[in-house]
Formats: sequence, C-alpha cells, structure tokens
Amino acid sequence: MFELPNEDEIVPHGIPQTPDDITEIVLKAMSHTKDDRLREILTALVKHLHAFGREVKLNEEEFMAAINAVTRLGHLTRDRHNETMVMSDALGFSTLVMILNQARTPEQISPALLGPFYSRKDPEYPLGFNISRDTPKESDIPLFVSGRVMSRDGTPLPGALVEVWHASPEGLYENQDDSQPHLNLRGKFRTDADGSYHFRTIRPASYPIPTHGIVGEMLEAQSRHPFRAAHLHFTVSAEGHQTLVTQIFPEDDPFLESDCVFGVTSADLAMAFPIHDDGRAPDPDVRGRYCTLEVDFDLSPGVSRLPASPIDS
Ligand code: BEZ
Ligand code: FE
Repeated sequence: MFELPNEDEIVPHGIPQTPDDITEIVLKAMSHTKDDRLREILTALVKHLHAFGREVKLNEEEFMAAINAVTRLGHLTRDRHNETMVMSDALGFSTLVMILNQARTPEQISPALLGPFYSRKDPEYPLGFNISRDTPKESDIPLFVSGRVMSRDGTPLPGALVEVWHASPEGLYENQDDSQPHLNLRGKFRTDADGSYHFRTIRPASYPIPTHGIVGEMLEAQSRHPFRAAHLHFTVSAEGHQTLVTQIFPEDDPFLESDCVFGVTSADLAMAFPIHDDGRAPDPDVRGRYCTLEVDFDLSPGVSRLPASPIDS
C-alpha cells in the first residue's frame, strides 16, 4: 500500500490556465523547500531551464536527444573515467565555477580547472623524487620542476602540500592507459623549511581529451578539435590557506588559445620550460638534454580543503 503524503506536504500549486503558467506553477510547488540554499539553486535552475526551452523552442525529438545525451553521460562514467565531468569541462562550465570560487588578485598566480583525472590517493614522495615510473624512452625529455609556496604576503609556507599529475608524452593519464605503471606521473610533495619544493618528471605533450563518447560527438558537431595544450596539474594547499587548483602550460604550446576545455584561464599560466644540454642537470643520472620549470605558488588566507576526486584511481 502507498503511504499518503502528510498534510504539510500537499502544496496546491494550481492548474495552468495558459502554457505560460507552467513555470510559475513549478516554482510554487518547490517553494516550500526547507533548505534555503537548495531552494535558491533549484528555483534559478527551473527559471533558466524553462527560459532556455522557450528561447530555442525545443521540439520533442530534440528533447529526447537531450535526455539520451544525459543518460549516456551516466553510462559512460566508470571508476576511471568521468564523462559527466569531461562534458562540464568541454562546455566551459568547470572553468566558470572555478573562477567564481577561487578569487585571486591580479598579482597572484591564476587558478585553472581541476579536470577529470585528479585523485586524492596519489602517494607522497620525498623532495626530488622522479614521478616518471615508466622505462625512459629516447624521446622523453627529463623535466626538473622547482619553486616555492608562499602566503599572499610573501611569507614562505613550510610543510605545504604540492600535488602534481599529468599525462604521458603519448597524451594519456596512467588511469587511461594499461601500458603505464600504476600511479605513473602522479605524486605529492611537502615543501621544506623555506617553503621550497622540487621534483623530477618528463616533459608533457599536448593531447586530445577522450572522444569515444558524447563529448567527442559534441566537439565534432561543433567543428572543434579535441586537443588540450600540454600541462602539469597542481593543487597547492597549506593550513589556514585556500587551496589553489591550477595548471602550468609551456609558453610555446600551439593550443594555448584553443584549449578545448578552456583550461588556459590566464596568460600567466603559460611559462618557460627551457631545454638545456649543458651536462649540469640537477640529477647526475641525466646526461643528455633536459628541461626545467620554475613555478612559485602564492596562497590566499582561508580554509584549506582538497577537492574531491572525479575518479578513483
Ligand atoms: C585534462 O586535463 O586532462 C582534461 C581536462 C578536461 C577534460 C578532459 C581532460
Ligand atoms: Fe590534464
């Protein structure tokens, strides 16, 4: 048997007199939502969704295509791939939300989207560790990354956590590519007493985002290429400071201005990755050419909170 609703759950929202009334009626039905913030969000969502349907005069086939697209986002999402997140990224929505939430002054390094491949389970290593666990290839260029983490006023932050993850030169994250060692090109480091950090990896390359699903179909329909500018992802966090989520791009990358997920949020994120061949690499094992990247991070005061992982690697 059904359980009948309580009297206070029966909110008479009325019956539409004209097609235009439907939006007001839905808003009235939702007007008793107890949580203020949830009510605010759902009210705005219904207003914008209805306005969108009216603006484009959505027909019934298009409506079914939209329902199928959302259904496929769910079906394509697995432990190691989050198609819903990739769609949000390709629509520029992830970047918008990130910009709205990570307010920075013009002097501070800019934030950039988290992307679908962040994992909170990456191991912590001693400073200087090489996160490239794969057998080195002739074409790999060793990359030495170093810098400092400071508070916005320039005070060094010892013990700050620097998380880094990036794709292989073939353009795949280890969770997308069974031929790579587990946790390849991922790791966390803690800054030392003067707030500095350093680690070793290999130079990343530009790569296409996953196009096997609905996001790939959308990009194709929009005549957009699927490439991202080469980048290293970082989160930087310290007690009493807002966590910075960002990406650093080589300044000579051909996709800086057409990154398919709008990840290059500011020109200051495009940096020099100079190539050297002077036999003076920070690690004596490296005899041929190598490259370096120096990047300092400054954090605003606030609550230290790490993002949730879109995947479970
Ligand atoms: C990435 O950074 O790898 C990425 C970001 C958004 C969508 C897909 C991939
Ligand atoms: Fe990435």
